[in-house]
This record gives sequence, C-alpha cells and structure tokens, in this order.
Amino acid sequence: MSDILRIAIDGPGGAGKSTVAKAVAKKLGIDYIDTGAMYRAIAYKFMSLGIIPGKDNDAQFQDLINKILASTEVDYSKGITRLDGTDVSDKIRTAEISSTASSFSAFPSVRKKLVSLQQKMAQEKSLVMDGRDIGSNVIKDAELKIFLTASPEERARRRFEELSKKNDKVDYEAVLCDMKIRDRNDMSRQLNPLVKAEDALELDSSNMSVDEVVDLICERAKQLF
Ligand code: DC
Repeated sequence: MSDILRIAIDGPGGAGKSTVAKAVAKKLGIDYIDTGAMYRAIAYKFMSLGIIPGKDNDAQFQDLINKILASTEVDYSKGITRLDGTDVSDKIRTAEISSTASSFSAFPSVRKKLVSLQQKMAQEKSLVMDGRDIGSNVIKDAELKIFLTASPEERARRRFEELSKKNDKVDYEAVLCDMKIRDRNDMSRQLNPLVKAEDALELDSSNMSVDEVVDLICERAKQLF
C-alpha cells in the first residue's frame, strides 16, 4: 500500500489517453496532467513565430530554439494549458499542431525543459499523468503504469470524429496517414521515444468503451491505495 498514487498513462495518439486519464483522475479525486498539451503549447509558440522544423535542423536553428525556450513559460493546471501566462487550451487542438508538436518533441532542449517541469509537478503528489514517456522516463517509479493502445484505424476514426466536430473539411484518409507518420516519429526519436515500460499494464482499447477502461484502471489503483 502506498500513501501517494501516481498513475502514468502512455500510448500513441488517439488511443483515448486524455479522456481516460481525465475520468480516472476525477473518479479518484486526484489531479490530472496532460503532458501532450505542454508539447503542443511549445509547438504553438514556435509556429506563431514562423519557426518550423525542417530536415536539417542545424546548430543555428537549435540555438534559436534554445533562446526562445529560455524565455518561454508553459504550465498545465486544472485542465488549462497556459503559454507565457495566456490560456491556449483551444488553440492547440488542431491537426497542424499535432504534427508540429511531434516534430518539436524530438528536440533535446524541448524535452529537457518539459520533462523537468513534469517531474516537479509529480513530486510527492497523487496524480494521473498521460503522455508518451511518463512510465518509461518522467515518473519511472510510478505506482501504476498503463500502456493504452488501439489499432491505427480505430485511433484515426476517433481523431476524425473529434476534428470533424470543429472543422467539416477534414478527411479520414489524411487523418490516418498523419497518425501513422506521428506514430513513427514518436516511436523512433532518439530521446525518450514512445515505448511501453516493462512494468506497464498494456490495454488495447479498440473494442473497449471508455467506462470499461476507466473502471479497470480504477480497480487496479484501489488495490494499491
Ligand atoms: O498526446 P498528444 O497528441 O497531445 O501529444 C502531442 C505530441 O507531443 C505527440 O505527438 C508527441 C509529443 N509528446 C511527447 O513527446 N511526450 C509526451 N510525454 C507527450 C507528448
């Protein structure tokens, strides 16, 4: 039995991590941290400044990134993502930001800054944190680790529905293609790639409802707490 309960939920985009993590946190009465939102906020800042990663991210480009990062503040609290003090929660939920966040998340300086912030947030406090490297890197000693997956087609279908509600011009095949590219980027980057931690419980949500996944995780959590 443990005094604090840190639940790490990792997995590819569209697997339902945020929905599940939010519901688990609510049910257990603990905080929820969406680390993807933090990477999205950074990507939003770079994009707003017209900075786009290319094939050749040379030393000059890295210097520019580091300079901007040094004066950038990202915060996630109570469901709100703040960038330099401004709420950007709605602005970061676009297909363009999804893919740019994936590209910028491979930069060591971006990861260093956000991982250190996330580790501070997770210090001696019960919470649910979702992302790509939470169980394998950010909170290696988390009390409960979940690796949530679903087939690429099912994940693309969910993302398509989510995006369709905001923008009727979205195309399923394009969403599926973006999802596969993002999976490859997230799994193949050198630093903290998306990987199942050895001690994580793998759940395939393709044929499970959100409630089923949430109940299963809460049951496990109650056994520990
Ligand atoms: O979970 P999401 O789709 O909001 O995440 C956006 C991108 O941020 C994702 O493609 C990879 C990156 N990310 C990461 O590298 N590490 C995390 N812990 C969370 C997200």
